[in-house]
Order: sequence, then structure tokens, then C-alpha cells
Amino acid sequence: MNLLLLNIKELIQVRDEAPELLSGNEMKILPTLKNAWLHIDKGVIQDYGTMDKLPELSGFKTIDCTDRMVLPTWCDSHTHLVYAGNREQEFVDRINGLSYQEIAARGGGIVNSAKRLQETSEDALYEQSAVRLKEIMKLGTGAVEIKSGYGLTTESEMKMLRAAKKLAQNFPVTIKTTFLGAHAVPPEFKENKRGYIDLICEEMLPEIVRENLADYVDIFCENGYFSVEDMHQLLTEAAKYGLRPKVHVNQFTSMGGIQAAVKHNALSVDHLEELTQEDIESLEGTTTMPVALPSCSFFINIPYAQGRKIIDAGLPLALATDYNPGSTPSGNMNFVISLACIRMRLTPEEAINAATINGAYAMDLSKTHGSITRGKTGSVFITKPVPSYGFLPYAFGSN
Ligand code: NIG
Ligand code: FE
Repeated sequence: MNLLLLNIKELIQVRDEAPELLSGNEMKILPTLKNAWLHIDKGVIQDYGTMDKLPELSGFKTIDCTDRMVLPTWCDSHTHLVYAGNREQEFVDRINGLSYQEIAARGGGIVNSAKRLQETSEDALYEQSAVRLKEIMKLGTGAVEIKSGYGLTTESEMKMLRAAKKLAQNFPVTIKTTFLGAHAVPPEFKENKRGYIDLICEEMLPEIVRENLADYVDIFCENGYFSVEDMHQLLTEAAKYGLRPKVHVNQFTSMGGIQAAVKHNALSVDHLEELTQEDIESLEGTTTMPVALPSCSFFINIPYAQGRKIIDAGLPLALATDYNPGSTPSGNMNFVISLACIRMRLTPEEAINAATINGAYAMDLSKTHGSITRGKTGSVFITKPVPSYGFLPYAFGSN
């Protein structure tokens, strides 16, 4: 479609030359054009400028954006959006005093979702997930990473990834997929974790690669789940297939997961609620993006990743939702951005950069997403009438 957006109050994140990522002080700057126009044709950003220099144009569908802002869509680089059923009972258990780890130890948590998913057909799984995808698209997300990890058998892990691939075919949104077989040890391997990791390495990985179902590999590195040593084994194997890691580390414990991930050239290290000075230093000078998930902290009442400290150390930071049935049943990037400002002390500029350019980097989408740049995908959203872009995180809970 040949589309012209006119009278845009402020066109946000305009970059003639788009950087791959933004670090430290660079994150404080959010370039914009006031009273602007934007031309998108065949799904690609063609040109933009200010209304006083609007070229002679005809044959377009035009949209009047008076009083509204236009932004590149959110890049949500960490979700578990494909899942079956929900876990409201665990939510109530937590209100009544149990912790996330106590619920998992009682057989709840990830293995609870895995049991539901194994009993759900691929079609039903797809339908349930499509509802969530449509919802996040309405909330402004245009690129999203989706993990497996609620299958925990070869068949069910593949079922999840196939459902994610089918979503990618059927919706105008960019989807990257991540194989997270090492999300939890399934009950049948309770006394034989090594056996489960061998199954992941010897059966799941080759099958998933053969069907081209995953772009990345992930592991939940945490006490009671998988160790740093497990991570070394899995990531070494995954590297043979060219799968780059995006990993769950430091959610409840700082245990060397970041250092191991960096050694394996991880694209991102995600969660980071428990972060030491040494952890921060080990990320300096690497190509690994730290990713914070503040709506997970909000929902299960755990500390927030120290985003302020990460950025002040000169590092980049991305923001994502972690949309999943256990720790974050929400895929709302607008709320994530508000929380990043309110609880992690990011400025609106830093939070928007973290949710666009840096989120795109954490999915290898820097060339096509994350900014208003000529030649990038025309994936943008138009806001309601708003006074300024700072109003977006300020008006928390409003989309
Ligand atoms: O990122 N921490 C591990 N995985 C998910 C939660 C999984 C679940 O509780 O279902 C997360 O928070
Ligand atoms: Fe997660």
C-alpha cells in the first residue's frame, strides 16, 4: 500500500543512519521531527520530512495524524507467547504467601504448563496464541521473539515452534523463534537431569534444526533448573548448528551465567534481577545485549533489574515483556516502558530506545526494525492525541 501519514505532531526515533544499538549516554537521545510527514510504500519506509517541505504528491492513501505521534513499533525480544491454558491458581497461591520457587517445588510452574501443553493439539495451541499475538499487535508491538520451553518432549517442543512459525506466516508481524528445551527438568527425568540434557542435545536440537524451527537457543540457568555447567554443554552443542544463545540468567541468583553466556557469544542475557558489579563488568566490551523484564518483577514481586546502573556503566539495555503464563501474563510493552521509568529510573528517551533500537538488536533485526529510517520496514504505530512522548510512560496503564 502506498501510504502517506500527514500532520504528525511528532515523528519519534527518526534516524537517517540507524545505529545497530545504543549504549550508555547514547540512550539519552531520542531524535524526533515535529510537524512531520512519513511515506511508506510496499511495506517499506520511503521518506519523511517536515510539513513545510512536503513534496508534490498524489495517488496515496493519506492518514491525518494531527495531535498524534508516530513511532516505530515496539520490538519485544523476549516472550513465551505460545502456551496452553493459564495459571491463575498459582497467582492466588502467591497472594496467599507462597513464592514462585515454592510453587515450582510443589509441581506447579513450568512443568504445570508443560502438562497442559502436551495435552493440547497444535491447532488449539495456535488459536490460543493467535489471540495473544493480535492483542500485543494492538498494543504497538511489531516484532517479537517467541520461545518454546513448555513442551519438554521432542514432539511438544516442536509443536510449540511450529505454532510460532505459523503465526509468523499468518500475521503482519516479524517473529523470531528460540528453542528453550532447557526450561525445566520434566518430572520423568527428575532423578536424571543429565539424561534430559542428553535428550535435548542428541534428539531435540538436531530435529529442530532439520525442520528449521529455531533462530536461537535458550536455557534457564538457575538453582533448581539448570547449572552453568549444563549451559556450557548445551551452548557448545547448539553452536555446532549455528544457533546463537539468548539466555535466562540471574533471575533469582547470580551464579556465573552471564560470564558463561558471554563466552558463548550470546546475543542477549535476559532477566538480570540479581546482578553483581562483577556481572556488569563482564558485559563490558561484548556484543551481548542485557535485557530487562520489569513486568516480571512487578507480577511476582521480585527486585527490578538495575537498569539505571547498567546504562550508567556505559552498557546498552533492551526492554522486553517476558509474556508467559507463570511470571508475566502480559505482553504490554507500554506498561513495560512505564515500569522501566518508574521502577528502574530510566528516562522516557532511554526507555523508548531500549524498547525499539536495542530490542531490535536483541533479535538481529537492527537492519529492518527499531527506527524510522529510509529502507526499514514500514512497521509503525500512531498514538492517540498526546501532549508529548514523555506522556507515554507517564500515563501508565493507558495504551
Ligand atoms: O522468564 N524464568 C523462567 N521462565 C519464565 C517463567 C516461566 C513460567 O513460570 O512459566 C520467565 O520468567
Ligand atoms: Fe522468560
